[in-house]
Amino acid sequence: MQNNTIGIVGAGKLGITLAQLARKAGYEVYISGSRDPSKIELSVQVLAPGAHAVTTSEVARVSDIVVLAMPLGKFHLLKPEDFVDILVIDAMNYWWEVDGPRSDSVAEGMTSSEAVQLHLPQARIVKALNHMGYHDLHDETRPAVTPERKAIAVAGDNKADIDTVSRLIDALGFDALNIGALSNGSLLEPGHPAFGANVTMHKLARLTS
Ligand SMILES: NC(=O)c1ccc[n+]([C@@H]2O[C@H](COP(=O)([O-])OP(=O)(O)OC[C@H]3O[C@@H](n4cnc5c(N)ncnc54)[C@H](OP(=O)(O)O)[C@@H]3O)[C@@H](O)[C@H]2O)c1
Repeated sequence: MQNNTIGIVGAGKLGITLAQLARKAGYEVYISGSRDPSKIELSVQVLAPGAHAVTTSEVARVSDIVVLAMPLGKFHLLKPEDFVDILVIDAMNYWWEVDGPRSDSVAEGMTSSEAVQLHLPQARIVKALNHMGYHDLHDETRPAVTPERKAIAVAGDNKADIDTVSRLIDALGFDALNIGALSNGSLLEPGHPAFGANVTMHKLARLTS
């Protein structure tokens, strides 16, 4: 596994921004929307040159790491059989205006990432890239060890996967803050202090403690 091919499911504000950052960092990028790839091909070509518009099944088939950047309320449309033994970054948030009642997507007492894990039982879910707005993601990339470099939190149950995602985040231009188990992803959800955070590692650690 080289981890040099990034897949993105969702070609909206977040998906396209991540495609831009990943291309800039030298990754091969495959991206899908909800419909035929031809519907997003031109915008992908213009906004993230070099990224490939494909179906979601193709994204999962060819990518080392897949980022979910689609509305949370639609994750049940993903085919579990497409996501077998794949490292998946859940960058989605529950947003009632878009997703309807939370209980339609996420069972009581669960984090949204745990619900995604339940739907994709053979994927390895890591929560990351969800708490910073797409405009900040776009504007705030900095080389490693730059003073005041901004940080992105990562939650997951497998140390090796957290490390892999942390290296990706570093390559995209941010420090990565390991906040532990996937269940700690609740600390990054809307309504919690770290949601929307565009801050340094030190400050993010305080917001997630
Ligand atoms: N916007 C941000 O700053 C930001 C930051 C961090 C995290 N997030 C999270 O990222 C997710 C996407 O947000 P966004 O702002 O990028 O939304 P958006 O601009 O509305 O884009 C959503 C994208 O998801 C696609 N999509 C919908 N259903 C799909 C499906 N079944 N399969 C594949 N793709 C599907 C849409 O395609 P169609 O247009 O074809 O329907 C669209 O390209 C949300 O969960 C959000 O909370 C957003």
